[in-house]
Amino acid sequence: MALGRKKISLIGAGAIGGTLAHLCALKELGDVVLVDIVEGVPQGKSLDLLAARPIDGSDIHITGVNDYAATRGSDVVIVTAGLPRRPGMSRDDLVDKNKGIMKGIAEQVRELSPDAFVIVVTNPLDAMVYVMKRVSGFPKNRVVGMAGVLDTSRFRSFVSNEIGISVQDITAMVLGGHGDDMVPMLRFCTVAGVPLEHFLSQEKIDAIVKRTQMAGGEVVGLLKTSAWVSPAASVIDMAEAYLRDKKRVMACAAYLEGEYGIDGYYLGVPIVIGAGGVERVVELPLNEAEKSALQTSFARVKDVVASVQL
Ligand code: APR
Repeated sequence: MALGRKKISLIGAGAIGGTLAHLCALKELGDVVLVDIVEGVPQGKSLDLLAARPIDGSDIHITGVNDYAATRGSDVVIVTAGLPRRPGMSRDDLVDKNKGIMKGIAEQVRELSPDAFVIVVTNPLDAMVYVMKRVSGFPKNRVVGMAGVLDTSRFRSFVSNEIGISVQDITAMVLGGHGDDMVPMLRFCTVAGVPLEHFLSQEKIDAIVKRTQMAGGEVVGLLKTSAWVSPAASVIDMAEAYLRDKKRVMACAAYLEGEYGIDGYYLGVPIVIGAGGVERVVELPLNEAEKSALQTSFARVKDVVASVQL
C-alpha cells in the first residue's frame, strides 16, 4: 500500500459499502479496503471500482477481502455490516442480529486499528454505535454514528423542493435518535439565515417534518430495502471533515456525558468534527418543548440500548 495515503476500511460491502467505496475514489479520500463475509462480493466490487478510476481520474487503491488482516492500521473504519430493513420492519427490529455482528467487528477494530476514527452506520444506529464504543473501548471522540447528517439532508431536500431555493442555502438541524421520533429543531432551520416560516406556512412545515421522520421508511416501502446513496453521501461528509480537519458542525450520534442532560448514551446532537474526531458537542439553548421532544426520542433509544446485552 502506498505511503502517504490514508487508509479507509469499509466493513460491509453491500449497497452502502459499495457506494462509499466509489465516493472515496471520486474524492480521493484514501486507499480503500472493502470487507464482507460473502465471498466474491468485496472482490468483485473492488474490481469494478478499480476499472472506473482512469475515467474518474482517481489514483487511490481499492482491495476487496473476506478477512480483516488487510484492514490493519486503518485511519478510518466505516461499519455498514449487518442486515438492512425490509418492508414492515422498524430499525429497532434489527437489534438482535446486528448486535452480534457489531461486537465481532469491534473486536477486530480494537485489535488491528487501535487509532482509527470509527463511523457506525448499521441500524438501529444509536444502539449499534454504543456496542462499538463499549466493545472497542475507544474514547468517545473516535466513535461516532451517522444519522443526523442524513436526516438533516432529507429535511433540506424537502424544503428546497417546496420553496424552489438551492439546497445549499437551507440549513437544518435534526436531532435525537435515528427513529421515527427524531426531532427537527425548527428554530435552528433557516434559508440563508432567514427563519423558515418566512417561506413556508406552519402546515407545510409540519408536513415536511412528518415526511422527514418517515423518509427512511418511505424508501423502504418503494424499494423493499433501505436507502444507500444518501446514507453513503452523509458518511463521506463526516469522514471528509475528519480527514481534512474541516471543523464542520454536523448532527451525529455522539456519546454524551451530561450534555443535554444525558449521560452514558449515544444520541443525535450537533458536534464539531475535525482532525481530533468528535472535537466537541455543541449545546443548543433548547426551550421546554424542544427539550421534551428530545427526551421522548431519547427514551426510545434507551429502551433499545437496554435490550443489548453485552
Ligand atoms: N462482516 C462483514 N460484513 C458483513 C457481516 C460481517 N460480520 N455481516 C453482514 N455483512 C455484510 C452483508 O454480507 C452485506 O453485504 O453487510 C452487508 C450489508 O449490506 P446490505 O445488506 O446491502 O445493507 P446496506 O443497505 O448497505 O445497509 C447496511 O446500514 O443503514 C444501515 O439499516 C442499514 O443496518 C443496515 C446497514
